[in-house]
Amino acid sequence: MTDTIVLAYSGGLDTSVAIRWLQERYGADVATLTMDLGGAVDLEAARRRALEIGAVRADVVDAREEFVREYVWPALRAGALYEGVYPLATALGRPLIAERLVRIAQEEGAFAIAHGCTGKGNDQVRFDVSAAALAPSVKVVAPAREWGMTRDDEIAYAKERGVPIDLNKRSSYSVDENLWGRSIEAGDLEDPWAEPPEEAFGWTVSADAAPDAPRCVEIRFAQGVPVALDGQEMDGPALIETLNAAAGEHGVGRIDHVENRLVGIKSREVYEAPAAVTLHLARRALEQMCLAKEQARFKERLAQEYADLVYNGLWFTAHRRDLDAYVDSVTRRVSGTVRVRLHKGAATVTGRESAESLYRHDLATYDAGDAFDHQASAGFIKVFGLPARTQAQAQGGEAQRR
Ligand code: ARG
Repeated sequence: MTDTIVLAYSGGLDTSVAIRWLQERYGADVATLTMDLGGAVDLEAARRRALEIGAVRADVVDAREEFVREYVWPALRAGALYEGVYPLATALGRPLIAERLVRIAQEEGAFAIAHGCTGKGNDQVRFDVSAAALAPSVKVVAPAREWGMTRDDEIAYAKERGVPIDLNKRSSYSVDENLWGRSIEAGDLEDPWAEPPEEAFGWTVSADAAPDAPRCVEIRFAQGVPVALDGQEMDGPALIETLNAAAGEHGVGRIDHVENRLVGIKSREVYEAPAAVTLHLARRALEQMCLAKEQARFKERLAQEYADLVYNGLWFTAHRRDLDAYVDSVTRRVSGTVRVRLHKGAATVTGRESAESLYRHDLATYDAGDAFDHQASAGFIKVFGLPARTQAQAQGGEAQRR
């Protein structure tokens, strides 16, 4: 019996070289897995190339629906934005790929899974920790972390061994994309003072180039999950794709961030996430109307915890399940519609409505029909202000303190 390794295969240079390298280094059969999470992958071309290089099995999977349902929507409902800005597209994709790798490994009786991540990023952590959490006995091999080859070394290695590679497609950036966003790093982006050049972007136009006329979109949520766009019900991938196009066309969704990686490095990261940015904005607006103040405030704190957990590769943990239980509970009445205006790089909420709304016109109005008990305020303020008054009487007023 030959030992098998299951490799996450993108079809690019690193993972193409990795197929051959794993065969040579471990004397193993290599099975590959290529997943479509909504990025620019040609599944059939990847399958063909993997088999051509010598893979014994080449799975290709369109997992867009599962990705949205099981990973993207939970993170959106939780409000998960890493360091307040990054919607976590790459970070959410990794556990799903790891889960599938492990499943194939178990089917094949493979001793290891493998991925193409380098030794200085977050993605290696996400793959390795996800695999450890799902199948602690399966080994994880990261060729690019071990082999110490430069890009030129890899090209030479591929040429020597007749590994077919496609060198035309390569840009000066390192890009990872799926439905939820496009992550761009390296090249001239490594200077945090340098403005990202237009060629770094693929999904959005610049605010300057965006149309003069704004576009308004209406997003309907059911229990914190987006279910319809402009009145039309859509499945998750379709809704996200449609909104990526609509918001991207208006220059919405560019994020430029100096980020704290788990491995201790600060790195300059540029993202495009038109749908994610718009949906997080809309979700928050709806929550402001459907949740009590304490629920909304506590949920904000949980959102940060959730984002850190996703970013740090801890998706398959009991902690995430527990946080999800809270999110399920707190979003059960977050249903309704939000109108967002997309214009010249900005997304702005311009309206919201919900059958679960806690907004009451008769309480809020300054016009006729006011139901608020103005007289009751005096007594409330007397009690509410009691500590401040007591302290001023005992220790002198704040004003006297200069
Ligand atoms: N910094 C992001 C993250 O850790 C994106 C990494 C994406 N990788 C890439 N090759 N661009 O989730």
